[in-house]
Amino acid sequence: MVSPARKSLLKRRVMDLVTQTAILPLLFGCLGIFGLFRLLQRIRTKAYVRNAVVVITGATSGLGRECARVFHAAGAKLVLCGRNVKALDELTKELAVSYASQGQAHKPFTVIFDLTDPGAIAAAAAEILQCFGYVDILINNAGVSYRGAISDTTVDVDKRVMEINYFGPVALTKALLPSMVKRRQGHIVAISSIQGKISIPFRSAYAASKHATQAFFDCLRAEMEQDRIKVTVISPGYIYTNLSVNAVTADGSRYGAMDKNTAQGRSPVEVAQDVLAAVGNKKKDVILADFLPSMATYLRILAPGLFFRVMASKARKERKSKNS
Ligand SMILES: NC(=O)c1ccc[n+]([C@@H]2O[C@H](COP(=O)([O-])OP(=O)(O)OC[C@H]3O[C@@H](n4cnc5c(N)ncnc54)[C@H](OP(=O)(O)O)[C@@H]3O)[C@@H](O)[C@H]2O)c1
Repeated sequence: MVSPARKSLLKRRVMDLVTQTAILPLLFGCLGIFGLFRLLQRIRTKAYVRNAVVVITGATSGLGRECARVFHAAGAKLVLCGRNVKALDELTKELAVSYASQGQAHKPFTVIFDLTDPGAIAAAAAEILQCFGYVDILINNAGVSYRGAISDTTVDVDKRVMEINYFGPVALTKALLPSMVKRRQGHIVAISSIQGKISIPFRSAYAASKHATQAFFDCLRAEMEQDRIKVTVISPGYIYTNLSVNAVTADGSRYGAMDKNTAQGRSPVEVAQDVLAAVGNKKKDVILADFLPSMATYLRILAPGLFFRVMASKARKERKSKNS
């Protein structure tokens, strides 16, 4: 037991150390520098996004809808894309109200098309360019998830997921790229997933499409640097959206259920703020996931044998719980 007199002596010694040495000023100094750094980052983001023409695919729901709100509030000129006319109309009406109340916000345009239709993508790119005459930032956000075992899944389902998550965004990017190159200005953003870096069982088509996305946009970044086109790949972990509800299953039907992991995921509002910060600070590759999934990406590289064993055990457990 420490006596009260000894305790107060100890306390005094610690306080003396803190006040007499440079610890306190150093601490405040570091906090100040960090605060200033964050403030500068925020100012830089605002300046980059204000009045920029930003195209967002999949703006009808989840992360895309929140990105629309966040970029709109930051003063971007929006072109919102999706298939659901009603949802896009509701969003533009909502944004128009804040457009009226905020002096600097711009009224958004909408462009309706399906990412699985190459003809529609070419026409949509022309329509997008007509909205403001050019595009500064393209956010390839639209996507679909998948649930199923490889052995039960038809190749048509694999192709469908690749069409929406990979070939669609690639086609739209290629259609808009020439106008960016001509202006020697532009920024392409791909919303990938942590599953673009690690593959988890029963998500084969989704993980494959996101790995392909990561690979394509990494190549694009390197090839476009001399044309001053920036590329950002963002890999979120679970976000609380309808992604699992809208996921396709092995036979192509809709999964229709909210997964526990998705329900416990980050709020789309928060993730949209992080997307804005990543774009504003011209980040090249960003992981927006919790500690464990982020660590898993390192485990995959540093100890692949262990990673594969963990994934095989996860697959066994999942199969067992399905069969029970
Ligand atoms: N939620 C997560 O846990 C999570 C984690 C990592 C990454 N992500 C990624 O985040 C992005 C957004 O997903 P979310 O979570 O916001 O899911 P969501 O709520 O289901 O939204 C998906 C969006 O994609 C659009 N879309 C789907 N198929 C399309 C098609 N054929 N053509 C055009 N648009 C289509 C949907 O539009 P319609 O209204 O027309 O269907 C919807 O706006 C996706 O790329 C996803 O892979 C999500």
